Amino acid sequence: MKKLFIKTYGCQMNVYDSARMADLLAPLGYAPSDAAADADMVILNTCHIREKAAEKVYSELGRLKALKKEKDGMLIAVAGCVAQAEGAEIVRRAPQVDMVVGPQSYHRLPEMIALVTRQAGHALETDFPALEKFDSIPVDLSHSGASAFLTVQEGCDKFCTFCVVPYTRGAELSRPVAQVADEARRLVEKGAREITLLGQNVNAFNGVGPDGKQWSLAKLIAHLVAIEGLARIRYMTSHPRDMGDDLIAAHGEIPELMPFLHLPVQSGSDSILAAMNRQHTARDYLDLVARIRESRPDIALSSDFIVGFPGETDADFEATMALITEVGYAQSYSFKYSPRPGTPAASLKQIPESVKDARLARLQKLLLSQQDAFNRAAESRILPVLFEKPGREKGQGIGRSPYLHPVHVAGAERLIGQIRDVKIQTMTANSLRGVLAEGAAL
Ligand code: 5AD
Ligand code: SF4
Repeated sequence: MKKLFIKTYGCQMNVYDSARMADLLAPLGYAPSDAAADADMVILNTCHIREKAAEKVYSELGRLKALKKEKDGMLIAVAGCVAQAEGAEIVRRAPQVDMVVGPQSYHRLPEMIALVTRQAGHALETDFPALEKFDSIPVDLSHSGASAFLTVQEGCDKFCTFCVVPYTRGAELSRPVAQVADEARRLVEKGAREITLLGQNVNAFNGVGPDGKQWSLAKLIAHLVAIEGLARIRYMTSHPRDMGDDLIAAHGEIPELMPFLHLPVQSGSDSILAAMNRQHTARDYLDLVARIRESRPDIALSSDFIVGFPGETDADFEATMALITEVGYAQSYSFKYSPRPGTPAASLKQIPESVKDARLARLQKLLLSQQDAFNRAAESRILPVLFEKPGREKGQGIGRSPYLHPVHVAGAERLIGQIRDVKIQTMTANSLRGVLAEGAAL
């Protein structure tokens, strides 16, 4: 048996792709390993979203170069969005790399391995062969746990001026409903109780249904919840412009659709939103949030924020702080603007790093206080928790509430794969602790 080590950077889409690459290489005799040192093949599944993420790849490649010298025949592949964006440049900067494969072409890995082992040299695949990869990857799904990811849509047509995704992942494409439903059924057979539907713009899903018509995400969700054993469904990431009426209504109508929504707004300033090409105003977003809350009053919201976008004034930044205060988020991600080669905003006049640092610190403080308040509000409540994995303490189980809080419960390791009511007792920085509610124990 040969050993395969995959290191995944970036988003959940990459987590899904890494699992599929492992499935794809299993028939070639590669078994997963959790260390690069003893691996016969290393795949770095990379992220290009910010400069830091991309640079990490090159430092990891430096470490792998030394390993490869000691281990004859070790193969190194760079997959994902850095592979797509930088292509041949990677082999120029890091000749120890044998294969470079973009996110839409990794189903070609077996041929590429055959090629580089037969003849010395490099193999490079960065085409966009539409949805071909989904037809050619065997989904054995042997590693899926209680909560699984399922990619239903890829790519982005929005072209926010800061973002590389439309260039690295290509145009928006949705998988056919039957293919998605088939994969969902297999995930549930393997033990998944919860499925998170993934897409760069997942709420723009418009895959072909069994009736030959294009189905919306809401329709897909209503179809999937009929699968017996599937208790929970989530989706991410959504663009505010694509939040259709039927999807908003689904939050109130489908109990399996969990009350948590990641709905990035990036900024609260209309002039920055326009410069970012987000195609909506702060008011549009706040109105949308109000409509979603009308449909599902207890929904927890999260967002992404960028500070220091070119041209962001103090007043623009204060508008972002005001929007955050008005919405009240359960959790959020925030970043300093990072100019990405080839994107329109990269050529604009940049904001000094010190200003970005100061704004980010203030923004994160506010977001953290909201997250704290959100977690504290769960204390002494009883919440259904889907147990997903063992905790650090012996016998402990870790799961998630409907609102995505991580919940730690002593003695719950034996309940992995099950949903139980938990009485929340205390909170720590990022998680809750609780005990099985009365009557919930086995
Ligand atoms: N600089 C900083 N943050 C970025 N993001 C995307 N591109 C950039 C960039 N150039 C953030 C956005 C997006 C998240 C996935 O990453 O907030 O929603
Ligand atoms: Fe990037 Fe904007 Fe598309 Fe999201 S919607 S992937 S931020 S271009």
